[in-house]
Amino acid sequence: METIAFASDHAGYTLKQSLIEYVNSKGYSVLDFGTDSEDSCDYPDFAHKAADAVENGSAAFGIAMCGTGNGIQMTLNKHQGIRAALCWKPELATLAKEHNNANFLVMPARFISYDEAVAIVDAYLAATFEGGRHQRRIDKIPVK
Ligand code: RB5
Repeated sequence: METIAFASDHAGYTLKQSLIEYVNSKGYSVLDFGTDSEDSCDYPDFAHKAADAVENGSAAFGIAMCGTGNGIQMTLNKHQGIRAALCWKPELATLAKEHNNANFLVMPARFISYDEAVAIVDAYLAATFEGGRHQRRIDKIPVK
């Protein structure tokens, strides 16, 4: 089974811990890059480490969250090998994989429930990249 890199700040900590348990129950391995409590912290300190793990192949993909999802997504997408998609409903997660081959699923922890997050994760895990014209488009994303 694949390994998933996880990262959050304090605002996403509780959801991160719950989702780690959830994906473990589905058979996935996890690399947890923090944070490790609800104490206030800075999301880039954890996002960069998780992005490195996906870029170097230690993890197949990542799941990350902060309060809005914006800060951690912005950080992840500074990495040339990362395509991080901010998703707040399952349909967005499906399309993020099918069309963008997103290798990070990002969620806004302060704006979704645990049940909504699980539905989003399930949608992402079940989807398959469609390739074709979408491969051509994602090939044009990196700054050369
Ligand atoms: C933390 O208060 C909050 O700013 C952070 O979790 C995130 O929403 C930033 O983008």
